[in-house]
Amino acid sequence: MPLPYSELVMEHFKHPQNVGRIEDADAKATEGSPACGDMVCVYLKVDSETQRIEDIKFESYGCASNIATGSIITELAKGKTLEEAKELTWKQASDALGGLPPIKTHCSVLAIDGLRAAIENYEERHGLVTERVPTTIDVVRKRLKRVMNPVVGLDLVRTKLVTDIELSNGSVRVALDLPADHQFANNMREEIVEKIEPLWDVDEVVVEFTD
Ligand code: FES
Repeated sequence: MPLPYSELVMEHFKHPQNVGRIEDADAKATEGSPACGDMVCVYLKVDSETQRIEDIKFESYGCASNIATGSIITELAKGKTLEEAKELTWKQASDALGGLPPIKTHCSVLAIDGLRAAIENYEERHGLVTERVPTTIDVVRKRLKRVMNPVVGLDLVRTKLVTDIELSNGSVRVALDLPADHQFANNMREEIVEKIEPLWDVDEVVVEFTD
């Protein structure tokens, strides 16, 4: 039975707005969904004076709902300040799309999470984080839950790929149960560094693979 998508969802799915990447982005984030293994990347250009989102683009590796939500959420966020954009909810996105089937809630949540993570990335990269909580193993593990294991489409922690995390004097060491010459090894290393390095008290991220 076909899913009851609204006309608006179909319109945004067929003609999504703001699709693509921003090469010189001021911030970016990739979020994955544990529910289905899909991913969304969000790129931001921000006016540093006004903190307004000047440009925003997204790439989706998800379903029609995810693409439609990425399209609407980037439309809603464009021109807003970071603070205003943070307040956008999946409910607003879903309402703006004329409603999404309940089974597809996680798809719109994924797009919102991508937007929020990109804003967080901007704040971390630009020293705007006011709550300077010291990084702990738990914080690192949480971030690793946002890195997908492309082999199975679930995150690194759930798929038990992370065998060890160590923290000492601003250096974070992450050990993975994966050979260094694995086809996705470099990819995963880059994503891990991208997620953890922006933390305010982290100077260095070392990713180790098995021999
Ligand atoms: Fe994966 Fe919608 S089913 S994003």
